[in-house]
Amino acid sequence: MKKYFRNLTAAAVLASLVSCSGTSDEAERKADELLARMTLREKIGQMNQVSGGYGLMDMAAAGEVGSILNCVDPVEINAVQKAAVEESRLGIPLIVSRDVIHGFRTIFPIPLGQAATFDPEIVERGARVAAVEACASGVRWTFSPMLDVARDPRWGRVAEGSGEDPYLTSLMGMAMVRGYQGDCLGEESSMAACIKHFAGYGAAEGGRDYNSTMISERSLRNTYLPPFKACADAGAATLMTSFNEIDGVPSTGNRWLLKDILRDEWGWDGMVVTDWNSAGEMIAHGFSRDLEHSAEQAVNAGVDMDMMSFGFISHLEQLVKDGAVSEKEIDRAVRNILVLKYRLGLFDNPYVDTEASAKVDYAGEHLEAAYQCALESAVLLKNDDSALPIKCGSRILVTGPLADAPYEQMGTWAFDGQKEHTVTPLAALRQIYDVIWEPGLVYSRDKDKSSFSKVRAAASKADAAVVFVGEEAILSGEAHSLSDLCLQGAQSELIAEVAKSGKPVVAVVMAGRPLTIERDLANCDAMLYAFHPGTMGGPAIADLICGKVSPSGKLPMTMLRDAGQAPFYYNHNNTGRPCSGNETLLHDIPVGAGQTSLGCTSYYLDTGYGPLFPFGYGLSYSSFSYGKPELESCVLERDGILRVSVLLENTGNCAATEVVQLYVQDCVGSVVRPVKELKRFRRVALAPGESCTVGFELPVSELAFWNADMKHVVEPGDFRLWLAGDSASGEPVGFCVR
Ligand code: BGC
Repeated sequence: MKKYFRNLTAAAVLASLVSCSGTSDEAERKADELLARMTLREKIGQMNQVSGGYGLMDMAAAGEVGSILNCVDPVEINAVQKAAVEESRLGIPLIVSRDVIHGFRTIFPIPLGQAATFDPEIVERGARVAAVEACASGVRWTFSPMLDVARDPRWGRVAEGSGEDPYLTSLMGMAMVRGYQGDCLGEESSMAACIKHFAGYGAAEGGRDYNSTMISERSLRNTYLPPFKACADAGAATLMTSFNEIDGVPSTGNRWLLKDILRDEWGWDGMVVTDWNSAGEMIAHGFSRDLEHSAEQAVNAGVDMDMMSFGFISHLEQLVKDGAVSEKEIDRAVRNILVLKYRLGLFDNPYVDTEASAKVDYAGEHLEAAYQCALESAVLLKNDDSALPIKCGSRILVTGPLADAPYEQMGTWAFDGQKEHTVTPLAALRQIYDVIWEPGLVYSRDKDKSSFSKVRAAASKADAAVVFVGEEAILSGEAHSLSDLCLQGAQSELIAEVAKSGKPVVAVVMAGRPLTIERDLANCDAMLYAFHPGTMGGPAIADLICGKVSPSGKLPMTMLRDAGQAPFYYNHNNTGRPCSGNETLLHDIPVGAGQTSLGCTSYYLDTGYGPLFPFGYGLSYSSFSYGKPELESCVLERDGILRVSVLLENTGNCAATEVVQLYVQDCVGSVVRPVKELKRFRRVALAPGESCTVGFELPVSELAFWNADMKHVVEPGDFRLWLAGDSASGEPVGFCVR
């Protein structure tokens, strides 16, 4: 690996985690003092966030903008900052923001891939690297992490979150918040996190982006809000409202969400920004009459800063004069903004050191962390006859549109990615194997099969073939929903063509979402699902293919057989007719069959009941055996702690890491409870033949849920618990809570 890293011992990341000076109280006191000196117009200026290219200089000099986004050139940033600091009456610095979603210059796997690591430590390291790099360019505020629990892979933005599980999403989100914000927001390499999109955005109907959501209050509280609460408690500095409406109320105008829950219930004291023009979009929703009305509704609901609707700057002054918005609301908002600026130390140090960016050691620890994250994020879905690993030095055919696509492998939201450091699988495999390279297709949607015969001929000369398929970066992310989740273009045909050679075929999928790859699985011997793995995806995949490291990723979302199954998630409620496994499928129905309810359970006649692969699934080159979970006590008090352990053994022939997952079911509740819920997990590395006892502690209070009385309580009764390598395995043990 050394060839890719200039300096493996550089402590750039750790060095940035120095201690905090200046207290939060001081920031609040200073904000109050400044607020007392501001005119109404100056206050409203702080509430305005504007993107580069919108006449920023004049606005900054006039004190009419509080934050800018999409400006990453340190020289330009300093020029606008200078206008704000030196020309506006009070010299209040701007906060510079950007979507630093999975890395700044060094791109890490997309967040969904990061979630597949089940490793909060590597995710935190990635966020720290992103903060060091972005801050060196002057970006002190990122619009990340995205905490939208998402259960429909048609939604393009599943790429940006941690998948379908609230607990996994919470842990990954908290890791990112810690990584971005460091030990102290005031350090030059600390970047304010922004938890988004509040709330329910991931439940867009039909997976169509921006769509309405139908989420009951209970389901909102049990499923969609917990990651936000966890990250708010972990000190996330800011929060973004979402585009969607819930039960008819757009989030940006939702006082219940933004005041009653966020402020009053949770006591969170950070700053709230809208999504891009989400205040203005309340007009299209049919919730606001015009821009003025939308500004009134947003501020009165609890929004502090307006991203790009210009409604605040254009109308708030008049709205205050008319009494539609009180100056108290304005003061509340502006205070939150100023406190953040003081906490970030912007008043003391508003400018970016234009040489800092050149001093960052991009090639050292940063690439190593990106490599490690990509390594842990790949999920092995199939490995018949040990097709993987492929012996080093073999002659292999490398084909497919994603094998040598440095831009595409970075995935969505990688605006600032440094392409010089991106290493493709083709380049990395060439260091290990005798490679025959035949692309077969130029890009993922390519349907031109004219070079397939060359690919097949090349396959016949090779010991094995590795086919890189998936999605171009542009096919996932915002506004990129799909109704058909099969491989695009002629990619499935390419795999089938290579399979005709009779040589072992390994498919590597690089995509922004779980695609429906059932038919492709049938045509390959092994499949590695790598998501969009980022800058160091190539070396990581090559080291997995050659067996230097065994795959250890686990699916953060259920993989479907067919898009028609969506939404489909492991932690669903049971129906009154749970699937029995004896369902009649389409082809079993006799011609002319009379009316019958065919087994009477909840399933599809064509795709059956089960998914292709369950949540938490992932193979390794080794195998693991689990003992029976041992509970310290089977009867627990509501204020007690559940302690459970299991004997895990590496029963295979190579060193490997298993993600041990703890699931719980609350058997009977005052409202129906999910069939299983992830409560703990841990990555455990074992040598071949080695075994160890893996123990977990779970405070019983973490079994609480929002019950029939809309109270967050643990209801006494029977529970079941599983310790297994995925959400569909293991035998349950019972316990009860008194
Ligand atoms: C997205 C946000 C993003 C914002 C700023 C919006 O379109 O929904 O997630 O942070 O743009 O770029």
